[in-house]
Amino acid sequence: MFYSVTYGKNLMGSYASQLNRTQRWMVIHYIKAEQAKAKGGTTASTTDSTKTSSGTPAANDSTKAAK
Ligand code: HEM
Repeated sequence: MFYSVTYGKNLMGSYASQLNRTQRWMVIHYIKAEQAKAKGGTTASTTDSTKTSSGTPAANDSTKAAK
């Protein structure tokens, strides 16, 4: 998902110029959280990479300041 939003996919163009890396991850995390909610399962199962559910990107994102 992150790749698709960063580089675009077929008809959908890249969003890298409108959303920085942190913002793109925030959108992906938001979508994954909504998907987990819709499934009715525990949020933990499908959002392993989303350690924080607050929309905060992964702490090890060292490129936060970039772009
Ligand atoms: C920030 C907002 C958006 C996010 C996070 C997003 C995310 C995604 C992702 C993850 C995919 C890949 C789905 C897959 O691999 O099956 C995708 C595909 C697609 N998106 Fe978006 N999208 C966004 C905005 C938009 C907008 C505004 C449009 C239309 C103007 C759009 C049109 C499409 C289309 C047509 C595809 C299918 C591409 C293909 O495989 O042929 N997206 N989007």
